[in-house]
Amino acid sequence: MTDSKMKSAQSRRTFLKTATGAATLAATTLHAPYIMAQPSKVRVGFLLPYTGTYAKLGQAITGAFKLHVDEHGGRLGGRTIEYVQVDSEAKPAKATDNTNRLVNLEKVDVIVGPVHSGVAVAMVRVTRESGTLTIDPNAGAGVVTGALCAPNVFRTSFSNWQPSYPMGKVLADRGMKKAVTLTWKYAAGQEAIGGFVQNFTAHGGSIVKDLWVPFPKVEFQSLLTEIASIKPDAVFVFFAGGGAVKFVKDYAAAGLHNSVPLFGSGFLTDGTLKAQGDAAQGLETTLHYGDGLILPKNLAFREAYLKAAGREADVYAVQGYDAAQLLRIGLEAANGDVKAKKRMIESMGSAEIDSPRGKFTLSKAHNPVQDIYLRKVVGMENKVQGVAHKALADPATGCKMA
Ligand code: BEZ
Repeated sequence: MTDSKMKSAQSRRTFLKTATGAATLAATTLHAPYIMAQPSKVRVGFLLPYTGTYAKLGQAITGAFKLHVDEHGGRLGGRTIEYVQVDSEAKPAKATDNTNRLVNLEKVDVIVGPVHSGVAVAMVRVTRESGTLTIDPNAGAGVVTGALCAPNVFRTSFSNWQPSYPMGKVLADRGMKKAVTLTWKYAAGQEAIGGFVQNFTAHGGSIVKDLWVPFPKVEFQSLLTEIASIKPDAVFVFFAGGGAVKFVKDYAAAGLHNSVPLFGSGFLTDGTLKAQGDAAQGLETTLHYGDGLILPKNLAFREAYLKAAGREADVYAVQGYDAAQLLRIGLEAANGDVKAKKRMIESMGSAEIDSPRGKFTLSKAHNPVQDIYLRKVVGMENKVQGVAHKALADPATGCKMA
């Protein structure tokens, strides 16, 4: 066959294929006018830890987020939700690549994550540039709603400063004068300790020793020996997840729980009580949630979560559930048009979220303004003793939107 004959045979085949396709399409359109194009799904990318010391936190957030979507028939604002999950491993060094993967490769509409403050800082540097809608359901790094705040970045959890700050006054009011602090040395721990110290020293307390251990190490023995020799009035710590379980057990095993009172931000005893057992009994912490809050929303949520996940809800589940609530509010305001970002951002920023923790609003920097509860471990519950600080807002230092 000559070149020109080959070309004309090829173009005939192309024509026939196109013509047949057109005829089929015309027939379909004529005989089935009710077949309409389905709107594409809204893609939610989870950037959360599914391995390591924070694995249970990531699972709780994911499960509760999906629970809220399922309660709405799998659709928010009329759009079906689909998920992409990336294991952040709580590793800041991998966070930029992981975020770029979700934004550029997976082309998600919304990122929900992370848990770890170091991962959050790297993630937000990417999403504030790309403009991807971002909902942080845990990581408390101050800069996320501080110097790096952005219209498209929201948080449904807390700033690290928030849950710890009220405990400073609680302990000073009890006449405690000398405290030792102890944490994993990274942004979450350092900012949490900073909040406690600010309020404790403002009310007459002093810090006699500032102890730390690298994240996510759990070798506490030498630190516990040091605490025993100092004998302060109180020890205030930040630990969460698997590390919190180990720390509370080690503290009790060293006999310190009977001689040196231990306090912390509520992550120390949230989602951990079953594993901590007797070692956690009587521990007091401050947090924006308490298991036993008698609120219709909390009771309904706990029952639904237990049924869906097969385990009791904790603060991480609450924050994941509220991340989905916030996305629903945005999508409903935009009639499901996830590209209508201005509408979504406006409605999300001014939302009042009916959370299991109690209703809360967002500050101009998009961080929750919320009550911080004083809780005490009684049996398998972080029992609410009262409100340690009403409607506490993070200072949002450096945020140009605030
Ligand atoms: C954080 O890294 O921001 C964090 C992790 C676990 C619990 C609380 C805060």
